[in-house]
Amino acid sequence: MALRATTECPPHSTNAIVEEIVRVTNDHSDELTPRSAETLMQLLAEQRLCLIFSGEVLAGWAVIEPLTKRLSELGMAYVKPEFRGVGVLRELLQLTAMRSERIVYATYSRELLDYSVASWGCTELKLWQVVLLSRGKFITKRLDRKTRATVRAHLDKRKPLFAITDRNRVVGTWQ
Ligand SMILES: CC(C)(COP(=O)(O)OP(=O)(O)OC[C@H]1O[C@@H](n2cnc3c(N)ncnc32)[C@H](O)[C@@H]1OP(=O)(O)O)[C@@H](O)C(=O)NCCC(=O)NCCS
Repeated sequence: MALRATTECPPHSTNAIVEEIVRVTNDHSDELTPRSAETLMQLLAEQRLCLIFSGEVLAGWAVIEPLTKRLSELGMAYVKPEFRGVGVLRELLQLTAMRSERIVYATYSRELLDYSVASWGCTELKLWQVVLLSRGKFITKRLDRKTRATVRAHLDKRKPLFAITDRNRVVGTWQ
């Protein structure tokens, strides 16, 4: 079944889709930072909720949250297990190529980070560099009372790694 990446959601299925994302991300809060339904609705309205469908079925998602005018953060990227390994993440990331700002992301996976550097033209950053580029927003965002407990729990267990998309060669031109 062909994959379709979009920031649009059919109005009749919006509530069900947002509820599913909230439920699944809550179930996987050890690796993802769940956002509330209200936040997801807001991101959807701003075309910052990236969805990927296989036919009519939601296969995965990610959010692109603003940090500064020229920098956003890709977060909560998730592909349902039954759709993994067939390029869903790659399709999802094509949506980031349409944006004018650069995108940072955090991951706990050294393999994924190295892959994004080698294949997607990303550059690894240190935390202080992300903080500087985002003018501190990367940190203040994590102090939000809705998500800070999950973020703290993640940090107690693992050390995140950071990368940023290339200034000129945006993710859509990978390969
Ligand atoms: C990580 C995740 C999003 C990957 O989704 P996916 O749809 O299976 O990935 P794709 O099939 O689009 O992979 C695209 C490329 O990235 C590579 N890749 C994917 N996950 C990788 C990983 N963890 N480490 C190294 N490379 C990886 C693939 O090998 C593939 O390479 P190719 O284009 O050369 O074939 C998915 O496994 C997932 O949802 N995991 C749980 C949540 C999570 O870890 N989110 C990421 C937070 S940063």
